[in-house]
Order: sequence, then C-alpha cells, then structure tokens
Amino acid sequence: MSKPLRALLLALVLPFAAAGASAAQASDTSSAQIRTHPPGTAIASGHALATKAGMDIIRAGGNAFDAAVAVSATLSVVEPISSGIGGGGFFLLHDAKTGKDIFVDARETAPASATPAAYLDEKGELNRDRATNGPWSAGIPGLPAALVHLAQNYGRLPLKTTLAPAIRLAREGFEIYPRLERGYASRRAVMERYRGTRAVFLADGTPPMTGEILRQPELARTIELIAEKGFDGFYRGETAKKLLAAVKEEGGKWRIDELTGYQVKEREPLRFRYRDWDITTAPPPSSGGVALAEMLQILEGWDLSKLDEAHRHHVIVEAMRRAYRDRTIYLGDPDFVKVPMRRLMSLDYAAGLRATIHPEKATPSELLPGVPAPLEDDETTHYSIIDADGNRVSATQTVNLLYGSGLVAPGTGVLLNNEMDDFALRPGTPNAFGVMGFAANAPEAGKRMLSSMTPSFIESKDRIAVLGAPGGSRIITEVLVGILGYDEGLNAQQVAALPRFHHQWMPDAISAEKGAIGPAAVSALEAMGHTVNAAESPWGNLQTVSWNKRTNTLEGGTDPRNPVGSAEVVDSRIP
Ligand code: DON
Repeated sequence: MSKPLRALLLALVLPFAAAGASAAQASDTSSAQIRTHPPGTAIASGHALATKAGMDIIRAGGNAFDAAVAVSATLSVVEPISSGIGGGGFFLLHDAKTGKDIFVDARETAPASATPAAYLDEKGELNRDRATNGPWSAGIPGLPAALVHLAQNYGRLPLKTTLAPAIRLAREGFEIYPRLERGYASRRAVMERYRGTRAVFLADGTPPMTGEILRQPELARTIELIAEKGFDGFYRGETAKKLLAAVKEEGGKWRIDELTGYQVKEREPLRFRYRDWDITTAPPPSSGGVALAEMLQILEGWDLSKLDEAHRHHVIVEAMRRAYRDRTIYLGDPDFVKVPMRRLMSLDYAAGLRATIHPEKATPSELLPGVPAPLEDDETTHYSIIDADGNRVSATQTVNLLYGSGLVAPGTGVLLNNEMDDFALRPGTPNAFGVMGFAANAPEAGKRMLSSMTPSFIESKDRIAVLGAPGGSRIITEVLVGILGYDEGLNAQQVAALPRFHHQWMPDAISAEKGAIGPAAVSALEAMGHTVNAAESPWGNLQTVSWNKRTNTLEGGTDPRNPVGSAEVVDSRIP
C-alpha cells in the first residue's frame, strides 16, 4: 500500500477503532516468544446479543465450537433479516486438539421440483418473483443440521445448554433496531403475502418498529425441539410436517425425503499461500476461496506497497475481474460438476492471467471470454471466534436476500431462505447480485447452489486472523481487502473498518465506497480505461478476530457500518 493511501485508510478507520476490542497480555511481550495458546477468547459477530451468548457459553465451560452454536442460533433469532435456521451457512473450524482444519458445508440444497423450467415465465425469461420470493425461492435448510453436527462432533456442551440463549431471546424477545425496520419496509409487500410471516412480524398489527420488542415464541419452540431431539427435531416430525405444509400451501413442492435426507458435508478447506500468510478458506460450493486464491496469486507478482494508489487499485481490480470471470464459467457444486480446481488454483495459471494485465490500461471485461450483468442489498451474517485452546471458528450464514423468501412456515417461526436465486436459474441471466452462471451452476435435485461466502483463516509465523463477511458477490473482495489490510499490519478493528472497492467482471465497472479511492486515483484509473463508481453506499459487515502469537494479544474487529455488531475479548482462560 502506498504511504499516502495507508495514511488515508488509517485516517478513515481510526475514528472507528474504539468499536473493537483488544486485550494485551503485557507480561512478556519483550521476550517475543511464539505462544501456542491464545490468552483467552475473542468473538466478533453482527449482533451484540449473539457475541454475548457466545461468551456466556465460554464462561459456562464451552469451547469455541459450543460458542459457535450459541452465536449461530442467536443470530438466527435476532437477525432474521440476515440468516436463520431456515437458511444455511459455511463453518470453517480449526480444532486445536488434532491441529486439523475442517470446512462444514451446511449450504441449502435444491428440491427436485426446482428444474430450470420451473423458473421461467411464458416468454422464457427468468421469473424473478419465483427466484427470490416465496416457496420456490427456498432451498432445503442446512443450518439446523450444522448446529447439531458442531455440537455432536466438536462441542463439549449439550445443545440444551448452547441453544438456551437463542431460545430465551426468541421467547422473551429482543429490541428491534433500524436495519430490521428498514429491511422490513423494503420487503413488506412480499412478507405480508404469507400468513405465517404476518403472524410473526405483524403480531401487534403493525410492522416492526425500532425500539419495539420482537417475540418469536414459535421459533423458540422449534429451536427447543432441535435442542431436545437433534436432527430429528427439525428434519422429521412436527417441524418437518409444518414446513412441507407451508411450502405446499403457497404453491411450492418439497418432499419429506428431501428434509430427512439433508446432510451437512465435511470438506477439505482450500489452502494456499500469499506472501507470509498461509490462507485456509472456503472450497466449492463456495466460489469464495477459489476466487480469493486466484486474486492473491495474481497479485503476488507486485509489491503492492510500492505502487501508487491508482496503479495499486488497477492491478487489484484486474485480478478481481479475472477471478470473477472464472467464477461465472467454472464454479458449481463439486458433487455435481467437475470444477477444474488444479488449474484454477495453480500458480502457473495465475501467472498466465497476470501476464494479460496491461500495466496502464483496463482490460474491457467483454474482451475476456465469457458473457454479461446489475446489483442488490446486503444481508447474511458472519462471526469469528478464537478460544483459549486455540480452537477457531469462521462462519458465514445466510437466508440470502433481506428476510430470505419472506415466507415463514406457519406454526414454526422458521423464515425460509431464498437461496435458489444463487443458482444460474437461467443461463447467462444475472441474479440479484448481478452475477450469472452456466451449466456448472444449473439447478439439479439435491445440488448446492454456488455461494460467494468466504469464511477464512490467515496465519503467519506471528499472527492468526479469522475473518469473513456478508455482501453477496462482494463478499470475496471484502475478504480480499481485509487480508491486504492485515498484510499491511492493520489491527482487527482497522481491518473491519477499511473502505471497500469491488469489481466482478460484469458489469465492467469498479464500485467503491466513499473514500476507498482518492479523487486523483479515480481520474488516473479512468484514464486507464476503468469505469469508477466512486461513492457508492457502504456495504458489507466484516467481523474478525486476531491473535498475535508474539505479543500474545487478542483483538476483535467489528464492522462500524453495522451499529449493533460487537467484538468482545476476554483475556483470561475461563472459568
Ligand atoms: O451464498 C451467497 O453467496 C449469498 N447467498 C450470500 C448472500 C449475501 O451475502 C447477502 N448479502 N448481500
């Protein structure tokens, strides 16, 4: 990063520094000895009640994985706009006992009814209402299975304990904040189509308002059934029957075996190296890890700190463009399509792509082989945890767009996702995030829709960081900007606050938050042939924790764009 840019970034992020959390174990920082265990626990999430639920579970003797169950379930209750047990997610784990990294894929799957033809209108165009609203937009939920899987395989405490905070908050309620109110207003027409949704969000006859309490007693009961019966508490019996009935009542088609047959998949995470960092991240069916690897491996050809601001942005954007092109063409569920991983992850491939970058000129996206795309709202949620044993969790979970499909299954409190829009429902037609796809990401029974969620760990000899974010197709570049920030030596809070910029191949334009690219660099980039939208509304909600193994300092960073997020550090082993 150039010095002026770095100064600018720091000036921009410093006002937010107080929002983070850090704990320095000052005892022997001078010995500069590498520690094997963090001094305590750090948790950062999109809502302070979820961060607190996680810390309470640590205090009750749980590990990072127990805390993850509590944070996930609590976010599902207090951030229904972003994620929920009617949705799915990815959980990247580091198990300190075995030293292993594990990627738990709890992505939703397509029901058999979701053929490509089911999403086309009479003219053969994509039926956008079906793709994003109501029963046809929902995949079979994966999050409940993930909670059970984490508890049974990695946790120390029973689900009854780890789900208790979420159950209580669902039953007793929590205070509605502006983002929920605004999101509801923008999704209102859809949400009020469905009687189950009206029962939750119009319980008092009026839409949710900031400062009111949202109670979800049926959701409390549904989570209680998961606590009591595990997998069967959601995918069989009472809840399963109600989910099937709701989908049917609204004109969709799910089969019981699609619920009972849902399985989380443990996958080998993707690993690669960037400068001094070992990066561990999401494999397909996320496109995040592959795109991140392509971008960073292309960028390794430059010393970014020696470039001026415009040229630095130029090469980063050109790397983004090329990686998102490959996402569009090649990526999909690896259980259904052959993803050319060896090629996409190879250093030689990255070198080839790097060689096509003109040092002074933008490559028009249409000149890269492939095809075109527009954009949307930010939801989904991420949390990051590191505990005193060195266990780590980086988890991104979602119902996709604001309040998912808008459909709450009556009697369950479960708001179904609208993740089906992440498939290429019509080849070459952009989805809500303006990204498109082809055969590799066509819907098929049981297939997982391609994701951009990129929960990641980065580790150097001195430092470990856990990070991830929501933001639809912009997730991957948000994580990229975060990694570049850590590489520059920023702390966790500064990384969460960093101004963002993005390019996704199509549309062929750079999106940038105010302040992410200075005016002179914007002009220089335009002179190179880039289109720059330099003052877009802020996006994303990055949550990160980091541990400095030399100073034995834990830090949390929570995105200042989200006023209800929180990072907490407890700097000693508890209890
Ligand atoms: O899996 C994905 O890539 C999307 N369903 C994530 C959606 C998201 O981040 C929404 N926020 N903008």
